[in-house]
Parts: sequence; structure tokens; C-alpha cells
Amino acid sequence: MKQKILVTGGIGYIGSHTVTELLEKGFEVVIVDNLSNSSLEIYEGMKQISGKNPPLEIFDLCEESKTDQFFQKYQDIVAIIHFAAFKSVSESVQKPLRYYHNNLLSLIHLLKGMQKYSIPHFLFSSSCTVYGEPDRLPVDEHAPFQGAASPYGNTKQISEEIIQDFLWAEQGKNCISLRYFNPIGAHPSALIGELPSGVPDNLVPYITQTAAGIREELKVFGNDYNTPDGSCIRDYIHVLDLARAHVHALEKMISGKCKSSYEVFNIGTGKGVSVLELIRAFEKATGIDLPITITGRRPGDVEKVWADTSLANRELEWEAIISLEEALLSAWNWEKKRGNKNNYL
Ligand code: UFG
Repeated sequence: MKQKILVTGGIGYIGSHTVTELLEKGFEVVIVDNLSNSSLEIYEGMKQISGKNPPLEIFDLCEESKTDQFFQKYQDIVAIIHFAAFKSVSESVQKPLRYYHNNLLSLIHLLKGMQKYSIPHFLFSSSCTVYGEPDRLPVDEHAPFQGAASPYGNTKQISEEIIQDFLWAEQGKNCISLRYFNPIGAHPSALIGELPSGVPDNLVPYITQTAAGIREELKVFGNDYNTPDGSCIRDYIHVLDLARAHVHALEKMISGKCKSSYEVFNIGTGKGVSVLELIRAFEKATGIDLPITITGRRPGDVEKVWADTSLANRELEWEAIISLEEALLSAWNWEKKRGNKNNYL
């Protein structure tokens, strides 16, 4: 019998790519999404890619009674992959309570569901933001949490702590947290991809929108950092490589191969790329010259962070394999395919 997996936020950017990977691997998927930062158009794209029709339940996981009703309806779920969360660093600074309410309450309701309906496995979307400005690079999973730079980052730290406390009290359950570095790119079909609403916060959607002429110029936030070219360094990973890491983590949990009830893995490429290098890579891959201005630093930005992925490579038998060039081209193809359909405010 196929194993049924609940994917929350399954219409979102990382969620949708993960659902297509799960369906391809033969899992049965049920999606919960409240469409707060996602579009049914992506759901259609996922169905087209997979040739399957995973059920979609549209409601807000912050509503406890609806979450409970959902679990009553789908009693044979074996694992939850929890993507549904707000993710804008800058918005979280402006609206911290909105972030704490949404990201923590939804998590608690899902964990209550695991308890009540005996669901053994939980896969959580965490972030390298928990490391802040790491003391050593590449950063590994033993690095301590640094003070969170934003309420968003704090919700990830608190969520990991809530999960560990929950597991300590609940025997027989297990959880893996995947700490994502910077996901970029889109499915090669260009049927699904990132849908930033309004002005994008993140670098790659800003680059593709500038290349498409939607934004006048790309601002590079600072060239006076202590890095070789003065711009910040990140670890950019293709969203499909990231999606695949979820399948490996899920299989590890389901097959009972986890070494402890709580495990954490960095999911990145292990390579640091500066903002200026990324821009040049995009220009080279697409042949488009981007209009750039160097502006001041963006408050809250970490200077440099990239992953030590050896634990994930070994324990999840997974590694990132898609090149930066391919990731940038897929992001560009998605932008072109979208044309003027985006919500460009
Ligand atoms: N940047 C620019 N210009 C832009 C946008 C970004 O120069 O228009 C720079 C940023 O200053 C930063 C780099 O590009 O140096 C990457 O910025 P992103 O906003 O794309 O990504 P962040 O690393 O800031 O944030 C991402 C996720 C967060 C997560 C964080 C963890 O968006 O959810 O990684 O470090 F918390």
C-alpha cells in the first residue's frame, strides 16, 4: 500500500517541488494550504507535471478545530512534512506577532494531531538562519544557535525547540529538521516555480524581474563586507535538489534508520557564492546585462554563510547535484514563462 504523506504548504515554492518529487517516488500525498502566499495555478502545474491529482484541503492550520477535523478525515497519514509558514525576514520585523502566531500555532496544532492520531514521523522546514553569523565556515550542525536576527528566524529556533520538547515527552515518534540554505530555481518544465508577491525580498527573483524589465535596476546591498569581492556570500541550492533531500529524509524516518528521535541536517551545496558572483553567473548563463547599483548594507544581513553538508551527504545518502548555472537558467525560464502574469506591485 502507498504511504500517505501530509504536506502542509504544499502549493508553496519548496512545498510544490517536493510534492512532485514525492509523487514521482510513488508516495501518496495530501496537501494542506491556506493559499496565503500561494496560487492554485501552481497546483495545476503540479498536476500536469505528475499526471496525478493529490487532494488539496484549503484551510488555516492555526484553526485548531479545522486541523483536528482534517486528521479525522485522513486517519492513515504516516508522516507530516511541514512547510506552511510565513517566511519574509523584513515583514517579520514589521509584524512580529503575525509571525509568532502563524508559525508557532500551526506547528503546535500539527504536533497535537501527531499525538492524538498516532502519526509517527515529522519533517520540519528549518533554516540556516538559526546559525546567525557563524563562528566557523562551512557551518555544521553542531554550531550553536546565535541570537535570531529577525522574528522570522526566531520562529525557526523556537520551533526546533518545541519539537525537541515534544519528542522528549512522546515516545516512539521521530522528527528531522532540514536547515535550508538559499533555495533558488524552478522545475525544468517551468510549470511551477517561485511566486513572490509584490517586490521580491530575495536576490534571484529580483534578478529575474530586473532581467525581464519589471524592475529598473538591481541593488547590491553592500560591497564593503569582509569577503573577497566585498559582497555577501550565501549557499544557493536548486529547489529540486532541496526537494529531493526531503524524500531521502522521509525514507530514512519511515524505514526506521534514524539514530535518534531528533536529527538535524544542513541542506545546501557546500559552496559559498557572493552576490556579485551570482549576478555574473546569471549574466553569463543568459547573455543579459543587468543594470546594477551598489547601495548600503541591508540591515540584518549575515556577511557569509555556507553549509558543511557532510552529515546530510552521509546520513541521508543525498547531495546537491544541479549546477548554479542550471538553477539560474531555470529561474529565468520560469520568469519568462510567467510573462506579465505575476503580482508585480
Ligand atoms: N541581495 C541584494 N539585492 C537584492 C536582494 C538581496 O544584494 O535585491 C543580497 C542580500 O543582501 C544577501 C543576498 O543577496 O546578501 C541574499 O539575499 P536573499 O534575500 O536572497 O537571502 P537571505 O540570505 O537574506 O535570506 C534567505 C531566506 C531566508 C532565510 C535566510 C537564511 O530568504 O528565509 O536565507 O540565511 F532565513
